[in-house]
Amino acid sequence: MGLRIVTLLSVFLSLWALAVAESIPKTDYDVIVVGGGPSGLSALSGVSRVRRTALLFDNQEYRNAPTRNMHDVIGNDGTPPAEFRALAREQILKYPTAHIKNATVKSITPIGNAEVSVFSVVDASGKNYTARKVVLGTGMRDVLPNTPGMEEGWGKGIFWCPWCDGYEHRDQPFGIIGNLSDVLGSVLEVNTQFSDIIAFVNGTQTRAGEAQATASHEDWEEQLKAWNVKIENRTIASIERIQDGETHQNKTADLQFDKFLVHFTTGEPIERNAFITNFASVQRSSLPYQMHLNVSREKITVDTSGMRTNLTGVYAVGDANSDGSTNVPHAMFSGKKAAVYLHDSASKISKRTGLTPRELEKEANRAIGRNLEPQWEKVQKRN
Ligand SMILES: Cc1cc2nc3c(=O)[nH]c(=O)nc-3n(C[C@H](O)[C@H](O)[C@H](O)COP(=O)(O)OP(=O)(O)OC[C@H]3O[C@@H](n4cnc5c(N)ncnc54)[C@H](O)[C@@H]3O)c2cc1C
Ligand SMILES: *[C@@H]1O[C@H](CO)[C@@H](O)[C@H](O)[C@H]1NC(C)=O
Ligand SMILES: *[C@@H]1O[C@H](CO)[C@@H](O)[C@H](O)[C@H]1NC(C)=O
Ligand SMILES: *[C@@H]1O[C@H](CO)[C@@H](O)[C@H](O)[C@H]1NC(C)=O
Ligand SMILES: *[C@@H]1O[C@H](CO)[C@@H](O)[C@H](O)[C@H]1NC(C)=O
Ligand SMILES: *[C@@H]1O[C@H](CO)[C@@H](O)[C@H](O)[C@H]1NC(C)=O
Ligand SMILES: *[C@@H]1O[C@H](CO)[C@@H](O)[C@H](O)[C@H]1NC(C)=O
Ligand SMILES: *[C@@H]1O[C@H](CO)[C@@H](O)[C@H](O)[C@H]1NC(C)=O
Ligand SMILES: *[C@@H]1O[C@H](CO)[C@@H](O)[C@H](O)[C@H]1NC(C)=O
Repeated sequence: MGLRIVTLLSVFLSLWALAVAESIPKTDYDVIVVGGGPSGLSALSGVSRVRRTALLFDNQEYRNAPTRNMHDVIGNDGTPPAEFRALAREQILKYPTAHIKNATVKSITPIGNAEVSVFSVVDASGKNYTARKVVLGTGMRDVLPNTPGMEEGWGKGIFWCPWCDGYEHRDQPFGIIGNLSDVLGSVLEVNTQFSDIIAFVNGTQTRAGEAQATASHEDWEEQLKAWNVKIENRTIASIERIQDGETHQNKTADLQFDKFLVHFTTGEPIERNAFITNFASVQRSSLPYQMHLNVSREKITVDTSGMRTNLTGVYAVGDANSDGSTNVPHAMFSGKKAAVYLHDSASKISKRTGLTPRELEKEANRAIGRNLEPQWEKVQKRN
């Protein structure tokens, strides 16, 4: 009885697998990953370990490129980002199914059908590649004001994330750069690291600016007083570096001594060692828009159980997705999550044919996916 069920089941599954195989076009790769930051590399690692064929594109514009050291990534605290990526590439490329290309992806077009996802991916040289799944780890770009000195100081004394860079400047004279309504939020993030704080609000302490601050924190003024934060409302003209923490460091104490002068359109400059900023960030790549993915407030909306976008077969990982987290550990986590999800779901569309009954049975077992595994095991046990 049990045997008959198994036989029927495997015949059915074999036929189904063959039928599906017929309708599945052969693609160059199982997976194409766009992005060679920690999210894309993590996705590539995950799929390569289970021998999926994969090609990663990287045009080498990384969000943390300007920073001296990467922090809060356990086992790699203080590693320069380029060193971290190079080691990741070296380790991943030992898997024969993993490939990396330093090139820009220009377009991604779905060419599959309702049953099977297939994508055509065209790079800057016009080369056309196909894959069944696409992972976007294309990242975000910080929109800095064109204030002279801002870009030069970015990631090297001027930062945006208290976990990334604050500790090396702890207890030094500190500045917050941003609109009045953003100041209290920054203070609450850095008050364990700094006590001498000036907020450079660049002319936003107006009626409207105060109303905006009140809308987010009723008692913002009292709180800033309590934290002893001074507000500097003059218009910022430039930021001049007068000392470089690259060369002025105490490595034993993990301290970097950058020093800057903030110049205004009027009056005397003010000296500070480090700053936290409040600037906007946007999608680095236009691909999410070109592909008509759901992008909401500059983030690609994903279902976080598998990092799936609203286009079947396309996953978004790292800073670019709507997971609400922008750091290296999240980039790695989300890349890994997408890799696991797409591997399991891709198993359902195997294109292998001409297998022996035993291989087909295994294939079918794989093909039914994890949800049916308990039932399958029950049938096998009875057998
Ligand atoms: C100054 C600074 C310091 C930071 N320090 C830290 C830190 O210490 N610790 C920490 O955890 N986080 C830090 N971060 C945050 C960290 O940089 C990001 O969270 C992380 O880089 C996100 O990884 P990602 O893979 O999503 O994107 P990214 O690392 O930005 O990578 C995006 C990738 O996509 C590629 N790409 C985009 N479009 C295309 C295309 N069309 N074709 C081909 N390739 C494309 C880019 O070239 C790049 O390879 C810092 C950020 C900044 C700005
Ligand atoms: C791609 O870029 C990496 C990192 O910058 C570099 O090490 C590698 O040599 C480049 N590969 C090619 C083929 O240019
Ligand atoms: C890329 O190749 C695929 C498969 O051959 C084809 O369907 C698609 O139209 C091509 N795309 C472009 C932009 O040439
Ligand atoms: C300061 O405000 C001026 C005028 O509104 C603006 O052009 C400039 O980009 C701002 N600078 C910073 C650092 O926000
Ligand atoms: C802050 O600067 C703006 C722009 O120069 C100005 O309109 C406003 O009156 C200033 N606020 C205070 C409290 O001085
Ligand atoms: C560096 O920091 C260590 C530990 O705090 C301290 O003992 C040492 O004197 C410092 N070195 C210099 C040159 O300031
Ligand atoms: C800061 O305020 C200015 C002027 O009101 C506005 O144009 C800008 O978008 C604000 N910046 C942020 C990051 O909210
Ligand atoms: C797009 O994403 C937003 C925000 O995550 C969500 O509210 C909306 O329902 C989504 N729309 C579609 C068509 O998926
Ligand atoms: C994804 O969401 C966007 C924005 O809501 C929408 O325009 C697009 O048609 C959706 N795509 C699919 C395949 O549903």
